[in-house]
Amino acid sequence: MSSEPALPQHIAIIMDGNGRWAKKRFLPRTVGHVKGAAGVRRIVKACADRDIRYLTLFAFSTENWRRPPEEVSTLMDLFVQYLQKEMADMSSEGVRLRVIGDRSAFPQDLQARIAAAEQATAHNTTLHLTVAANYGGQWDILQAMQKVLVANPNLKPDELTESMLSPHLSMAYAPEPDLFIRTGGEQRVSNFLLWQLAYTELYFTDTLWPDFDVSHLQDAFAWYAQRERRFGRTSAQLTDQTNTM
Ligand code: IPE
Ligand code: IPE
Ligand code: MG
Repeated sequence: MSSEPALPQHIAIIMDGNGRWAKKRFLPRTVGHVKGAAGVRRIVKACADRDIRYLTLFAFSTENWRRPPEEVSTLMDLFVQYLQKEMADMSSEGVRLRVIGDRSAFPQDLQARIAAAEQATAHNTTLHLTVAANYGGQWDILQAMQKVLVANPNLKPDELTESMLSPHLSMAYAPEPDLFIRTGGEQRVSNFLLWQLAYTELYFTDTLWPDFDVSHLQDAFAWYAQRERRFGRTSAQLTDQTNTM
């Protein structure tokens, strides 16, 4: 816990607004997704350059299967292409990739590519990049709960603690996000990291994801630096703590 106005250690982003970016240009929504996917790289690089340790991107929600099949299929294709084209470069920059979400619903070749990319980058330590795909915060809590019950079949309700559940959540390897960014103007969490966002600073911008560049990321960092993270305490307590340290 820190009250220092510092850079966030972990950033979680809902990359929203690809469809509207395309619609404004009278283009098919899928063009917006292509443009949006191309922009991921510069944000990953900007985070790596700034020594951000964890970046988590929401690529596909458990609810996004409700979209038209051709749009879902474009999103899957882009994911495959991303793993194929960008991973080698990112790996040489020290990026470690992990994918969270229920990947069993993906085509076999995509599952294999995900596993290969995770394995190929497992030794990297500069930036931990997590892509949330077929991910839902409710799914995450539920699957963690199921694992607790499998490990402790005779568990009584009052024996269940937060520390029993949290190691089974998908992002148990990372600290909880410090900064959440949602592009595209909507002010909602859309079933992203529900448990993990408990004390995250929430930043919403109207900028559509394909337009979101490093200067917009800087704006979010500047906003974050102004926040006082109290974690339930009073402002005076934080000042006292800083003075006695
Ligand atoms: C985000 O952009 C990408 C995904 C959800 C996969 P959208 O496709 O949701 O774009 P809008 O919100 O319709 O503009
Ligand atoms: C959230 O965006 C999911 C991703 C960006 C992957 P949506 O566009 O699906 O969210 P809603 O439907 O507007 O809440
Ligand atoms: Mg959207």
